[in-house]
Amino acid sequence: MKRSALLCFLLTVAGTMSAFTERAYSLDLSGMSPIGNVRKVVKISDGILVDCDDDSQVKLQVLAPDLVRVRAGFKKAIPGKDHSWAIARTSWNSVPTKVSESNDTVVLETSELRVVVTRSPLRIAFYDAKTGRAINRDSQPMRYNSATRAVAAVKSLGFEEHFYGLGEKAARLDKRREAFQMWSSDTPGYTSATDPIYQSIPFYIGHSMDREKSGEWRGSAYGIFFDNSYRSRFDLGSTDPENVVFQADGGEMNYYFFYGPSMKKVVNRYTELTGRMPMPPKWALGHQQSRYSYGNEQQIKDVVERYREEKIPLDVIHFDIHYMDGYRDFTWNRDRFPDPKGLMAWLKERGVKPVTIIDPGVKYEPGGNYSVYNEGTRQNFFLKKTNGETYVGKVWPGDSVFVDYTLPEAAKWWGDLHKPLLDTGVAGIWNDMNEHADFESRDGDKWKDVVNYDNGENSKHDKMRNLFALLECKSTYEGLTRLRPDERPYIITRSGYAGIQRYATMWTGDSPSTWSAMELSIPMFQTLGLCGQPFVGSDCGGYQGKSNGELLTRWYQIGFLSPFFRNHHAVDFNDQEPWRFGKRYADIIRKHVQLRYKLMPYLYTVLAEAHETGIPWFRPLILEYQNDYDVLNIDDEFLVGENLLIAPVVTQGATSRDVYLPQGEWYEFGTDKKHQGSQWISVKAPLETVPMFVKAGSILPGGPALEYMSQATNESISYDVYPDKAGNASGNLYEDDGVTRAYLKGGFKKSALNFGQGKLIATASGAKVEEVPSASVRIFGR
Ligand code: GLC
Repeated sequence: MKRSALLCFLLTVAGTMSAFTERAYSLDLSGMSPIGNVRKVVKISDGILVDCDDDSQVKLQVLAPDLVRVRAGFKKAIPGKDHSWAIARTSWNSVPTKVSESNDTVVLETSELRVVVTRSPLRIAFYDAKTGRAINRDSQPMRYNSATRAVAAVKSLGFEEHFYGLGEKAARLDKRREAFQMWSSDTPGYTSATDPIYQSIPFYIGHSMDREKSGEWRGSAYGIFFDNSYRSRFDLGSTDPENVVFQADGGEMNYYFFYGPSMKKVVNRYTELTGRMPMPPKWALGHQQSRYSYGNEQQIKDVVERYREEKIPLDVIHFDIHYMDGYRDFTWNRDRFPDPKGLMAWLKERGVKPVTIIDPGVKYEPGGNYSVYNEGTRQNFFLKKTNGETYVGKVWPGDSVFVDYTLPEAAKWWGDLHKPLLDTGVAGIWNDMNEHADFESRDGDKWKDVVNYDNGENSKHDKMRNLFALLECKSTYEGLTRLRPDERPYIITRSGYAGIQRYATMWTGDSPSTWSAMELSIPMFQTLGLCGQPFVGSDCGGYQGKSNGELLTRWYQIGFLSPFFRNHHAVDFNDQEPWRFGKRYADIIRKHVQLRYKLMPYLYTVLAEAHETGIPWFRPLILEYQNDYDVLNIDDEFLVGENLLIAPVVTQGATSRDVYLPQGEWYEFGTDKKHQGSQWISVKAPLETVPMFVKAGSILPGGPALEYMSQATNESISYDVYPDKAGNASGNLYEDDGVTRAYLKGGFKKSALNFGQGKLIATASGAKVEEVPSASVRIFGR
């Protein structure tokens, strides 16, 4: 079949598409015109502006030697107005760039990238400036449809090209030959067949394997961030084995091209552009318990007391929707919770932080006494349709209205509404249902005519839906920061768009209590990490359905090393706190939760790295070993930081599994037993254990056994040293007060740890060199 015929894909017509469908999109580019040929090229301060013979315009801007922004206006000039809610960094230093023209091409060259624009037809190709290797090429000119306003880019797909990313997708790690769409959707009980789900992060990493003359493989990565919030589709060789297509139903062709070749460099740059996670309070790394819902004060107290009796560490308790009066945001149900302040004080005495849910659906109550509704209405803060009517949807409170968070005064008002909750002693906010969940319009059809102020652009739902959660969390984050300027805000979100990491941590929503959902959570966390969101996790035990002791235990063996670590379960199902299936399971779960707390100095250091560089905590092997062909598809193992590898059991009844160890040598965690890397080994994994390995040459700082983060203790940091063949090891330790924002102004201590000749030396940032007393050092493998 000819390529053009192949590209006459079938289009799933947007109107017939339900919000979440079986994953099989087909893209039809046949109705889309190719952009015209190059007519004229003008050099601009940071790149080139190309006029096309169909009056389209293309702009290539060099933001960094490895970062180029591509924009196109179809049949029109590129609009002067340039605003994105996703972008954190808008001003870049000028980059030495050579522009040269020939009869056929225009070439932009930085120290790292050579970008070639072919004049006719207009196609853009990216090459490695040093090696000349082709990284990514348009196989066709960009396309547009003047009637529907759809825009698309078509790239050629390499034989050894693999894809990672696209944010929160219920899918395996490597997305080669699959297709996805971005349309944030409330998808309870989602499975690997469901797409889209809650978040929309239109960023992916392409990774190509090349064989060197020596026969060795070399992996090179690039990234593409298609910053377009309309419903978009990414077809990574699913419909057409020769092409990758990204397409949106409207908005601009506007993408950022990142070049590695290291995958870490791509993630680092992507998070420089869209922002990095601020440090959350340290208690947020503790174990969290939730239930839809602990329905009254006594139930909350019972759970917390039982935790303390069981000696299972606990830092956070969540208040799901029943704490509110008729699900009205910022109220308390006084029958169930007669004395919130007293309860918060009771929790405080026990070292437990309360987190309350706040949904964006505000109860629609004209003529009533609900001040949030009345005030929001009076000030015109709720979203309206083009005909001026306030949009009324259906969520937990029944008829509900929604704030236009793009209105600066409305966003501030919403943020300030949190004051009474904080004054009562609430420590964090859980922003749920923010896809624009609406029980009567799950795909947003009824929302079509809803208008957002959007910086004066008066944008409709087609542009704003995917941005809603980002805007809500921004307003919440800024509110909490204003209200408690000295403390780090803690917000958890379900939905989000690129950049959400600046405001909120996330969890993966209502996954079923099944083995396959648990297994899927691993590539989901890994992918989210690659897309800028390091603070991720799922509901341990699964949210919906009946879990059991074995499933819960195995889920904890993943959860205890994921950043967000919460047990949560839905209202109609069985209880699943760690002790609910008996002592056997509670004992194993306790051991793992305790281990998390003991590993906290290492974990906190890894989290600080994510804050500083964007490199995630929960890593796929490919991120560290991108030249290793064997890890391209491994997503049932993960790394925590660089040095800790975990191979959880994801199959019911299994008591052993095969584990791939990448290059180097690997110790079985906490033992002297070593294995050679670059091979598969078979390991025993009875329910009591999860296979864990530590890379030879590393040091894991550890802490005291705690029941909650702020518990007083005399114990200090200890160091587990796993020397390499030469007897050396190294590591890092990051420390700060765990609560305030002083770390942003240098209020932290970073120590480089170096072990050699039997001695461990810690060199703090201020160059203070200390030999660590041997009593706090454990050396393995001697
Ligand atoms: C949504 C959330 C879930 C919560 C429930 C009730 O389904 O995803 O975590 O328990 O709403 O608030």
